[in-house]
Amino acid sequence: MGKISAAITAVGGYVPEFVLTNAILETMVDTNDEWITTRTGIKERRILKKEGKGTSYMAIKAAEDLMRKRQLDAKEIDLVLVATATPDLMVAATAAYVASEIGATNAFAYDLQAACSSFLYGMSTAASYIESGRYKKVLLIGADKMSSILDYTDRTTCIIFGDGAGAALFEPNDEGYGLKDEFLRSDGIGRQFLKIDAGGSILPASEETVKNNMHYVYQDGKSVFKFAVSNMADVAAKIMERNSLSDKDVQWLVPHQANKRIVDATARRMGLESEKVMMNIQRYGNTTSATLPLLLFDYEKQLKKGDNLVFAAFGGGFTWGSIYLKWAYNS
Ligand code: UT7
Repeated sequence: MGKISAAITAVGGYVPEFVLTNAILETMVDTNDEWITTRTGIKERRILKKEGKGTSYMAIKAAEDLMRKRQLDAKEIDLVLVATATPDLMVAATAAYVASEIGATNAFAYDLQAACSSFLYGMSTAASYIESGRYKKVLLIGADKMSSILDYTDRTTCIIFGDGAGAALFEPNDEGYGLKDEFLRSDGIGRQFLKIDAGGSILPASEETVKNNMHYVYQDGKSVFKFAVSNMADVAAKIMERNSLSDKDVQWLVPHQANKRIVDATARRMGLESEKVMMNIQRYGNTTSATLPLLLFDYEKQLKKGDNLVFAAFGGGFTWGSIYLKWAYNS
């Protein structure tokens, strides 16, 4: 028997029904379809409008989709990880609620937060539990209700983000499929460029913070763009080099969907033609922790056992990295 690796053996996804198009945004802020499309590649995004429902609502739907497709009994799941920057509640882990609601009564559960890199880092966490032999079934869900932290009068942020959730099941594999290598980085200098100022331990919520709109996402887009474009390309190129992968060996780039221009630059650096680049930013915008699993969800039918996938992400913090994974099944 070979070394145990952690393979993705099923995926699921969910996006809310409401479609917020560029045309609708034109009626809300001073923007236009042409600007949004050429600067970001986004045409529309989904927004969760259900009263009283948070990130867990979408995470549960994505998990249920996965379990239905895979005919998985929730009681077999050992661990539920929810990667999210928008938990249902402060302090109480969203993952614990999700695990209970899906019937994963034999699992423990917790959240992971690394902004737009949450799911990528979560893949590393999930894989480590499997590779160590400690657990057999780890459910990793990436979910964010970005609409809950956006100022819909700020055209520089509200046009970018959307809501959604995706899920992936990690299981042991002894045939060489699954996570092969990772290169994960972070740099705290980035927190000045992409953040929510208030509501954390430095500046708790107050009448003042609410009045000053300090509970919404702030982004210095230009600065984040510069860091993202070079760092995402660097780590993806590094993973290829370290594993002696040429552009011919890579079947798919699975890139965080922050901006089509960042994705294009990463693909160019890797020498990949656009047919090998997963892309759904035009339909969902940037769903933060959900971008990577929603790509797997959308492209699952095109994936073949043995395909080499390179994941790459960049997010607030800053946090970023790349993962090389060998796909484990035909669907
Ligand atoms: O996922 C986590 C990591 N995040 C990212 O990777 C995001 C990285 N950043 C970006 O994707 C881009 O910087 C943005 C899409 C956020 C912005 O694109 P940009 O090409 O960097 O635009 P900019 O901020 O430099 O703004 C250019 C112009 C400005 O006008 P002036 O000063 O040149 O007159 C903005 O005021 O575009 C204006 N502008 C807009 N115009 C129409 C900014 N937002 C809008 C808008 N509609 N929504």
